[in-house]
Amino acid sequence: MKICVVNGQNHKGSTYHIGKMLADKLGGEVKEFFLPKDFGEFCCGCTNCFLKGEDKCPHYDKLKPLTNAVDEADVIILTSPVYVYHCTGSMKAWLDHYGWRWIVHRPEEKMFSKKAVVISTAAGAGMRSTNKDMADSLSFWGIPAIYNIGFGIHAVNWQGVSEKMRAKIERKTDRIASKIKSSDFKPKVSLKGWLYFTVFHFANKKGWNPADSEYWKAKGWTENKRPWKK
Ligand SMILES: Cc1cc2nc3c(=O)[nH]c(=O)nc-3n(C[C@H](O)[C@H](O)[C@H](O)COP(=O)(O)O)c2cc1C
Repeated sequence: MKICVVNGQNHKGSTYHIGKMLADKLGGEVKEFFLPKDFGEFCCGCTNCFLKGEDKCPHYDKLKPLTNAVDEADVIILTSPVYVYHCTGSMKAWLDHYGWRWIVHRPEEKMFSKKAVVISTAAGAGMRSTNKDMADSLSFWGIPAIYNIGFGIHAVNWQGVSEKMRAKIERKTDRIASKIKSSDFKPKVSLKGWLYFTVFHFANKKGWNPADSEYWKAKGWTENKRPWKK
């Protein structure tokens, strides 16, 4: 199993440790990235990615190693500590660079058979909105199976996390790892994925943003082909 972990912080704090715990339980080949160390650019709003192609993004080359790792992975794990009720600015800045990959533009077909996990920790609250920040992108990329792990750990670092809380985290990561590893679990397209895909199947058939419509036509998606296994 190939696993890509993208951490929304440079340091190895509580959130990182939960991501690592899950990746270890899944087993396999793990590629790990830390933001902003491994990608620290902000989207400059040029819209080149949408209108002219993703390779016209001024940060395309810097983004490429992460894009390749995400594409090759069977499981994508995104982690972020809760910062003022949301994901870190570094995580958001990285996700902004993939707007062109949303189903409404030019989704990557490999996404439609992947599994993903979003992980956040807070001192107290904000895990739901933080996980949603990350899961929104993953689901609009087309990923059909996305799991949430969120813990209010009542601590500011991993050393400060109580034994009782650690046991809860072990149980949750055990459950999710066994679901992901279950060989009879093959995710199908999500209802949301199917709905957006269907709307943009018609939009691109008619003619939409030229860069998007060309892509959809070349894939055969304006006809009967679909990016997911039927
Ligand atoms: C800038 C900043 C903002 C934070 N905002 C929140 C918050 O909104 N809610 C909360 O409960 N904890 C908040 N925290 C605490 C962290 O989310 C919490 O300590 C988290 O577990 C840290 O994870 P880490 O060890 O992976 O860095 C904040 C911490 C920082 C540094």
